This record gives sequence, C-alpha cells and structure tokens, in this order.
Amino acid sequence: MTDKDTENPSLDGAYALETPEDSRRLYANWAETYDQTFAQAHDYLLPLLVAQAYKDEGGTGLVLDVGAGTGLCGQELIALNIGPVDATDISQEMLNVAATKSIYRTLFAGDLTARLAVEDDTYAGVVSSGTFTNGHVGPEAFDELLRITQPGGLLALSINTVHYDAKGFKAKLQDLDGQITDLHLPEVRIYGESATDGHKDDTVYIALFRKA
Ligand SMILES: C[S@@+](CC[C@H](N)C(=O)[O-])C[C@H]1O[C@@H](n2cnc3c(N)ncnc32)[C@H](O)[C@@H]1O
Repeated sequence: MTDKDTENPSLDGAYALETPEDSRRLYANWAETYDQTFAQAHDYLLPLLVAQAYKDEGGTGLVLDVGAGTGLCGQELIALNIGPVDATDISQEMLNVAATKSIYRTLFAGDLTARLAVEDDTYAGVVSSGTFTNGHVGPEAFDELLRITQPGGLLALSINTVHYDAKGFKAKLQDLDGQITDLHLPEVRIYGESATDGHKDDTVYIALFRKA
C-alpha cells in the first residue's frame, strides 16, 4: 500500500493493509481519531460481541486483549466484570490512547507475527476483536497465543469470514486438533444497524476454543 493510504486512515485503508509495517503506519495516524471516525461512525459492535462471547463461554481474568488498539474490547470486558485485562498491540500510538482510559493492568507493544514478551502459560484467556482480518494478522499467530495461554484457558478471536478459508484460518484450526478443544465458530455482524458504507454487512466468526 502507498504512504497516501496510511496517512489518510479509513476502513478501506485498513482492509488494504499488507504488512506489519503498513499497520504500524496506518494506526499511528489513526489512533487519535479511531474511536470517532471508525467506531462511532460505523456503529462498530464487534468489541462488545467478542467480550460477551468470552463471558458467556465462562472466560475469566487474567485476560490478554491482542491487537487491543484503543481499548474498545477491554472496556467491554471490564463492563462485564471480567478482569484484570492486559493489552498488546503493534501500534504504540493506539496503546497510548487505550492507556488514557485506565482499563488495562499492563499495556505492551508487540507484533503478533513474532514472539511476544510473555512467559508460557500466563493468561487464563485471550481475546481479539478486529485483528485477524485482511493484511493484519494471519493464522500463524495462533501458536504464539496458545503458548502464552494456560492449559484449559479460553480464546475468543474474531476472524473475518471472507478470509477464514482463503487465508488459512480454517486449515490452521484443523491442524491444531489435539492442542485445542471445544472449538465453535458463531458468526456475527461487525457493524450495527446505523452503518451505511460498503462494509456494513460484513461478518466475522468468533473462534471460541480452549487450550488442551
Ligand atoms: C481494526 S483494529 C482493532 C482494534 C481493537 N481490537 C478494536 O476492536 O477496536 C486492528 C488492530 O490490530 C493491530 N495490529 C495489526 N497488526 C498487528 C500485529 N502484527 N501485531 C499486533 N497488533 C497488530 C493494529 O495496530 C490495530 O490496533
């Protein structure tokens, strides 16, 4: 993608990301206005739906919110009385905005396509809203998320339905057979009734599963 795409952040720009460096640049420019120009403008429901699915499945703290951004999913977890919650994201600028909301116990920059600075078996659960989508993070990150989750811990990860098969998420979850249990994949809408743009009907699967 071009510099122009990352300097003028938009939903279309986010779907056009290709590399972790693209993400760093786009979200650095978007952090200060993301809650208004993306979440509010598009009636973005997904963080609430991921948090609710995590709770309904029996999820507890300590939770890591991966690709936490400005903290929208962590905010919903806390509202549902689930915590403590930690946050990680590739964008320090997004985390800086999240930090102003006093939601998270700890926030740390990290690239989900590499190794996170976290000990094995640390978290009772992992959540992610909006990060497993085109050009953001692919299924290879699941190994790292399982490494840092306690045995029996719960993962609730939204995966864009368009990319679920095409980008290898389905195959990866099949490969993890034996390392994960209780997999199911409810499909939900990302945006609410007042969304109007071309992505308004987009959906995700919320991949819910436990580390064996
Ligand atoms: C659409 S935003 C979602 C943010 C938040 N979870 C929400 O629902 O509002 C995607 C987030 O993924 C982060 N991200 C993209 N690539 C990443 C990577 N390789 N490692 C960690 N975070 C990444 C971006 O910086 C951005 O904050």
